Amino acid sequence: MFAEKKMKLLITGATGLIGKEIVSKAHELGHTVHFLTTRSSEINSLAPAKGFLWNPDQGEIDTTCFEGVEVVMHLAGASVSKRWTSANKEKIRSSRIIPTQLLVQEVEKNKSLHQIRQIISASAIGIYPSHFNKMMKEDANVTSNSFLESVVIDWEKEVDRFELLGVTLSKIRIGLVLTPKGGVMQTLKLPTLLGLGAAFGSGQQGQSWIHIDDLVAMFLFMAQQQCEGIYNAVAPNPVTQNEFMKALAKAYNRPYFLPRLPAFLLRFLVGEMGQLVLESHWVSAQKIKEKGFAFQYPEILSACKHLVSNS
Ligand SMILES: NC(=O)c1ccc[n+]([C@@H]2O[C@H](COP(=O)([O-])OP(=O)(O)OC[C@H]3O[C@@H](n4cnc5c(N)ncnc54)[C@H](OP(=O)(O)O)[C@@H]3O)[C@@H](O)[C@H]2O)c1
Repeated sequence: MFAEKKMKLLITGATGLIGKEIVSKAHELGHTVHFLTTRSSEINSLAPAKGFLWNPDQGEIDTTCFEGVEVVMHLAGASVSKRWTSANKEKIRSSRIIPTQLLVQEVEKNKSLHQIRQIISASAIGIYPSHFNKMMKEDANVTSNSFLESVVIDWEKEVDRFELLGVTLSKIRIGLVLTPKGGVMQTLKLPTLLGLGAAFGSGQQGQSWIHIDDLVAMFLFMAQQQCEGIYNAVAPNPVTQNEFMKALAKAYNRPYFLPRLPAFLLRFLVGEMGQLVLESHWVSAQKIKEKGFAFQYPEILSACKHLVSNS
């Protein structure tokens, strides 16, 4: 274990699935949290964290949010789990690019207000090409072959502009986040409870998942240890989609027997967004482990059991 240094954090996307959990853990550990939200109704929602308003589309931000801040955690971005119409695709892209541009500009402009030494930005393993047997490390080649790949590549490029500000820059490529409060576990809860859980396509797609507690711990570990560069946030033991569905069913004490659902059916139902579950990502956790980060939930079955018993 390392000695915890108390930090003053500024978090964007703090009202979201991951952000909320980071805020709560940061408080538990005695850190001070400021956060930015686009919704005035949310300003007092994470007390004792202090909320500040911004409207990236209008270039507006309450710059008092920067006062005394040492580390920025940047998670803002619209959900990718809404049907990929052209309007939603534009929102998915612009909600990552525009807030990042505003943040770079305002961190630079308001230097006298803060002592920012590190920016930790969320990214996604969707940046890696889909592959059925290759383990992806942080230095893998990435190209814009799909919508998601191109969004994440552009998002990371924008984040790279923080380097010009002379701060430590860290990017966390997040895998499939497991939490009972939302995301994939919430979507699959009812079908699994009804014994109707099934994998899509071949079921052999790699699922590089991470338990929410490990993800939150990793954000805070990277701030404490000032880890620089890109790190994958995935558990050290990815599984096939078939194994994932089986583990989830077992955690719910339900049978898993249904045949896999054909890929064309999914594409018919949700269109291009089917990519989210049909693509295969085997992603390595080696780099963060070598930094000394210890995963509390390295195995899928114990992770699912823990999450189900806490839901
Ligand atoms: N959950 C996952 O499995 C997963 C996997 C890989 C990567 N990630 C990435 O991690 C980040 C956080 O994920 P999450 O699941 O916590 O997301 P989430 O629950 O959808 O929350 C995202 C937050 O971003 C803010 N936001 C949305 N549109 C915005 C805009 N146009 N301008 C400024 N802020 C905006 C919202 O905050 P306000 O409404 O308060 O402004 C919202 O609470 C996202 O960027 C996501 O792409 C997530």
